[in-house]
Amino acid sequence: MKDLSLSVLDIAMNSVKAKASLIEITLANDGKTLSVRIADNGCGMDADFLARVTDPFTTTRDTRRVGMGIPLFKLAAEQAGGTFAITSEPGRGTDLMAAFAVDHMDRPPLGDMAATVATLIQGSPDIDFVYRHTAPCGEASLDTRELRQALDGVPLNEPEVLQWIQENLDEEERMIAL
Ligand SMILES: Nc1ncnc2c1ncn2[C@@H]1O[C@H](COP(=O)(O)OP(=O)(O)OP(=O)(O)O)[C@@H](O)[C@H]1O
Ligand SMILES: [Mg+2]
Repeated sequence: MKDLSLSVLDIAMNSVKAKASLIEITLANDGKTLSVRIADNGCGMDADFLARVTDPFTTTRDTRRVGMGIPLFKLAAEQAGGTFAITSEPGRGTDLMAAFAVDHMDRPPLGDMAATVATLIQGSPDIDFVYRHTAPCGEASLDTRELRQALDGVPLNEPEVLQWIQENLDEEERMIAL
């Protein structure tokens, strides 16, 4: 079973490829349901393409190649007693949400969210990322727009900055894990 953090990395890479300037990753755990939302302001998809993107079986040889990132994330949610939804608008962006029943035996483990966020920032230091993970006993969060201001021109992909981001977020994640 693939860690949720790896699915998030996968899905957020779609947003990077879609030339988003802002990517929001929101995890909300109310003790019963864990919802994972990735929203971007990238190029978006038209209704026709959107309908095909969630279903790998609608692809035929003569249509454009459709990948497995989104269909697999949808499948993971549905196999864990959850739901999946995606909306998109050309020129405006895409908003994707997968919800998982927290206690379902097929719910993938969360994995290393701090590493995922740090990896995304490392690869795309000019994109803004807003990460927020709320759980019953607290929250972990990071907003590169605030960080950028505090850093006063120092790039987000400076090794010391990345290390701080990952360690700080990891500590916050550990506080709310359980
Ligand atoms: N956030 C997004 N904004 C715009 N287009 C998107 C977005 N996410 C997905 N797409 C479009 O949907 C296609 C399918 O996405 P999906 O993640 O399922 O597969 P892929 O990225 O093509 O390949 P893979 O993820 O398997 O490497 C993408 O190639 C892209 O054209
Ligand atoms: Mg993809």
